[in-house]
Amino acid sequence: MKIEDKLTESVLKGVKELYGADVPARTVQLQKTKKEFEGHLTLVVFPFLKASKKAPEQTAAEIGAYLQRNEPAIAAYNVIKGFLNLTIASAVWVDMLNRIHADSAWGIRKPEAQAPLVMIEYSSPNTNKPLHLGHVRNNLLGCALANIMEANGYRVVKTNIVNDRGIHICKSMLAWLKYGGGETPESSGKKGDHLVGDYYVAFDKHYKAEVAGLMEKGMSKEEAEAQAPLMQEARGMLRKWEAGDPEVRALWSRMNGWVYAGFDETYRMMGVSFDKVYYESDTYLEGKKKVLEGLEKGLFYRKDDGSVWADLTAEGLDQKLLLRADGTSVYMTQDIGTAEQRFADYPIDKMIYVVGNEQNYHFQVLSILLDKLGFEWGKDLVHFSYGMVELPEGKMKSREGTVVDADDLMEAMIDTAKETSSELGKLDGLTQAEADDIARIVGLGALKYFILKVDARKNMTFNPKESIDFNGNTGPFIQYTYARIRSILRKAGESGIVVPEVVPAGVELSTKEEGLVQLLADFPEVVRQAGTDYNPSILANYAYDLVKEYNQFYHDFSILREENEALKVFRLALSCNVGKIVKLAMGLLGIEVPERM
Ligand code: ARG
Repeated sequence: MKIEDKLTESVLKGVKELYGADVPARTVQLQKTKKEFEGHLTLVVFPFLKASKKAPEQTAAEIGAYLQRNEPAIAAYNVIKGFLNLTIASAVWVDMLNRIHADSAWGIRKPEAQAPLVMIEYSSPNTNKPLHLGHVRNNLLGCALANIMEANGYRVVKTNIVNDRGIHICKSMLAWLKYGGGETPESSGKKGDHLVGDYYVAFDKHYKAEVAGLMEKGMSKEEAEAQAPLMQEARGMLRKWEAGDPEVRALWSRMNGWVYAGFDETYRMMGVSFDKVYYESDTYLEGKKKVLEGLEKGLFYRKDDGSVWADLTAEGLDQKLLLRADGTSVYMTQDIGTAEQRFADYPIDKMIYVVGNEQNYHFQVLSILLDKLGFEWGKDLVHFSYGMVELPEGKMKSREGTVVDADDLMEAMIDTAKETSSELGKLDGLTQAEADDIARIVGLGALKYFILKVDARKNMTFNPKESIDFNGNTGPFIQYTYARIRSILRKAGESGIVVPEVVPAGVELSTKEEGLVQLLADFPEVVRQAGTDYNPSILANYAYDLVKEYNQFYHDFSILREENEALKVFRLALSCNVGKIVKLAMGLLGIEVPERM
C-alpha cells in the first residue's frame, strides 16, 4: 500500500474519533512537505474545520497528536498555520526502499494486451533535404513520448509519414538533372540525403536568379515567381510524376533511395525507430479520392479554374485548397489519405501528431476536415505542438543552405564530449572503443537532455557549450552521477560487500536519506504525470532533482567507509536504486547512461 493511502485511512479514523464525523476520503489532501519545513507529507486541515469547530492550528495539533499516538508510520509532527507537517518513521522508509529494490522496473507499467492503442507520429521528413535541428527536437520528443506512453501501460505504435512526392521533391530532381552531371552518393562520397539536399539548394539559387531576371524586365514578383522557367519545369515534372511517367518515376525512386539510406543512418545514430512508416506516394491518391467524395456530397466546392476547396468560414477559419486546378494534390490531401490508411491498419484509440507549432493551423483544419468527412476520431486527434529550436547565432534558414544539419550537430556534440572528457582525464586507461562509446553516449546525452528538459511548447535555444557542462542541469551531470554510483557498486563488489535482496530493518536514517527514498517513491507518479500531460520535461527535471539530492548525500555521508554495517548496506542499496531510477528515467527520454565516465 502507498504511504499516502495508509495515512489517509488513519486520518479518517482520527477525524471520526476526535470529532465524531465521517468525512469522505477525498477531503484528505496529503502533499509533499515544502523544502523549508520539517516533515515528509503535509496534511491540509481546512476541510476538517467544520467537524472540529476549532481553529486550524488547534485542529492540526489534535490530528497530529492522534496520528503520533495511533499511527506507527508517524514519528513526529509540527504545525505551521493550518498545515500539519508529518514526519514518517525511518522504518517506513527502509520498507519503502525494499519495495523499490525488489522491482527492477519500479514505476514502469507493463503494457496490457487490451490497453488502448496510441499511435504516435513523429519525424515525418520530406525527401528533398536532410534532417535538421528542428527534426532533432521532433524526433527526441516523439520517441520520449512513445516511451512514456508505453510506461503508462498503453500499446504504442510509432509511425512516420515520409513526404516523398510533391513539388519540392521535383525541385531537387530537376536540379540534379540539370546541374548534377550524374553525381551519386558513391561517386561523391556524400551521404545520400545531403547530396539530394544540395540540389534542392541549387534549385533555389537558380530559381531566384531567374525570378530576379524577370523582375528586371518589369514583371511583378508574383508573376515572375510563377513564370520562371525552372518553376514551370518543376510543375511539369510533378504532373509527369502523377501520370506515372516511367523516366520521372525511375529518377524519383533512385534519388529517394539515396535519401532513405541517409535518413536511416541519422535515425540509428539518434537512437530513434518506427514500427510503421507511411509514404505520401502511397496515401495521396486515397486522399484525392476522399476529397472528390466530399465534393460529391457537397462538403467541398470547385472553383471555375477546377481547383477544389473547403469553405471553413462557418468554423471561423477561411477557404482551404484541397486539390489544385491542374488536379494535383496538396499537403492537406495526403494527410486525409494517410489518416484513412492508418485507421484501416490499426485499431487506434488515440492519434498523436508530433509536429511543430508552425503547423497549428494545418492540424486545426485537418481535424475539422476529417470530422466533416465522417471520421469519428477526427475531432479528437492530438496535435503535440512544439516550439522552434535555434542555435545561439539565430534562426535557421533551410533554403539558403545555412540550416543546422542533424548529422553535423550530433558529430560535433560527440567530438566536444571527447575533448571535454579527455581534458578532464576521464578517458585515461580506457580502450579506444570504450572511449568512443562514452563520447557518443555523453555527446548525444548532452544534446538530448538539453532539448528535452525544456517544456516542448516553448521556443528554445540549443546551446551546445552549456549542454555539455559536467555540472548543472545537464545530461552529462546526470550521466556522471550514474557512473559514480556504478563505480561505488563495483568497488563494493571488489571488497566483497553485496547489496542484499532485503535491507535489514532497525537503522535510523538522516533527513537526507529519507528524502532520497521519498524521491524514489515519487517516480511512478512522475511517470504518470509525464504521460497524462504529454510532457517529457517533467521526467528530465525529476532526474536532475534526484541526482542533485544524491550528490549532496554523497558529499555529506560516507558509504563504503561507514562503520555501522546495517547503515552501510542501506546506503549501498539506496545508491543502487538511485542509479536504477536514473537509468529508467533517462531511458524513457531515450538517453543512455555510461557505466564509467
Ligand atoms: N513533412 C512535413 C514537413 O516537413 C511534416 C509532416 C507532419 N505530419 C503530418 N501528418 N502532416 O513540413
